[in-house]
Amino acid sequence: MAHIEFDAISKSFGSKSFGATRVLDRCSLAVEKGRVMTLLGPSGCGKTTLLRTLAGFVAPDAGTVRLGGVDITDLPANRRQVGFVFQNYALFPHLTVAGNVAYGLKVRRTSRHETAERVARALDLVGLTAQADRWPAQLSGGQQQRVAIARALVLEPAVLLLDEPFNALDAKLRLAMQVELRKLIARVGITSIFVTHDQTEAMTLSDDVAVMQGGRIEQVGPPLAIYDRPATAFVAGFIGRANLLPVRVAGGRVAEVPALAATTGDGARILVVRPENLAIAGPGAAGWQGRVVFASALGPTTEIEVDIGAAEPLRVAATRRAGEALPPLGQAVGVQVVDPAGALLLAPGDAHDR
Ligand SMILES: Nc1ncnc2c1ncn2[C@@H]1O[C@H](COP(=O)(O)OP(=O)(O)OP(=O)(O)O)[C@@H](O)[C@H]1O
Ligand SMILES: [Mg+2]
Repeated sequence: MAHIEFDAISKSFGSKSFGATRVLDRCSLAVEKGRVMTLLGPSGCGKTTLLRTLAGFVAPDAGTVRLGGVDITDLPANRRQVGFVFQNYALFPHLTVAGNVAYGLKVRRTSRHETAERVARALDLVGLTAQADRWPAQLSGGQQQRVAIARALVLEPAVLLLDEPFNALDAKLRLAMQVELRKLIARVGITSIFVTHDQTEAMTLSDDVAVMQGGRIEQVGPPLAIYDRPATAFVAGFIGRANLLPVRVAGGRVAEVPALAATTGDGARILVVRPENLAIAGPGAAGWQGRVVFASALGPTTEIEVDIGAAEPLRVAATRRAGEALPPLGQAVGVQVVDPAGALLLAPGDAHDR
């Protein structure tokens, strides 16, 4: 039994007369106890709305939310034991760090003694004991973020939900906080769902990633498993980079990649292949023929784009040997797949737009 279960959750906003938008469409997802799940998807795909059905701030039109096997779909938010760090967390500016963390306990009329003890523990956990008496305005962005996390953890929730908690931080601090948050969650051992639309962040932070689009989960799994075996073109393009190539299957083989067998019938397909799985070959070799339209070297690697007459140029990423020159623009080259096992063949209908 999973710790958190979203079972076929649907939700529309709007009204019949003004037109309703379906934001969640029979969306299902399970999170095992103690694991960190990341919801990854483009803006507006329903990530925040799904989290809010677990916190109790949004009532689904259909479907069931379970926590520890118990149906909590109709339970009031304040009885759910769900800690929430919001997309735009705001600390109370007129309360000290300790005051901010204590706030939720005060609302619950926790005794003064217990409050002091729990606040001290939460501040210790996020490494802010020395800052307990400071005002939010005297803290760095990263410290404010840690106060927001302590404020959620002090209530000893069963699960922790973090909705894009690093939005307000600059790039360098973001990375430091990602690593810190990962360690903190491991220390507390709390089942967590984390929302982002940044794929690097998803890969750094999570045990599992759920890629979401249009109110549904497209694929769930450990980050590297999804990277290596994306189920759809959307997933391939959203986690890492991918070339989408129109190819033809004839006689059980992909014409452009003879080493790649196709088990389905003949016809048009889309080949999904990552830039690092393509290599430049001499003209006339099997594969695709085209001209170099872009080439740049980043020290040990090269990025080359080859126009093969498809909608977009092929992107090829290769390791560069010392002394090797870049191909000149306009040069005729061939492009080959390095490892056919790492390429993914999809029916054209599965390769919907990014
Ligand atoms: N209370 C609401 N009333 C009406 N529409 C809403 C409401 N909440 C969300 N929506 C709409 O539902 C859609 C999904 O919103 P949601 O906030 O879940 O997306 P998201 O994936 O979190 O996006 P972002 O990455 O931008 O935060 C959006 O089109 C949004 O405008
Ligand atoms: Mg959101």
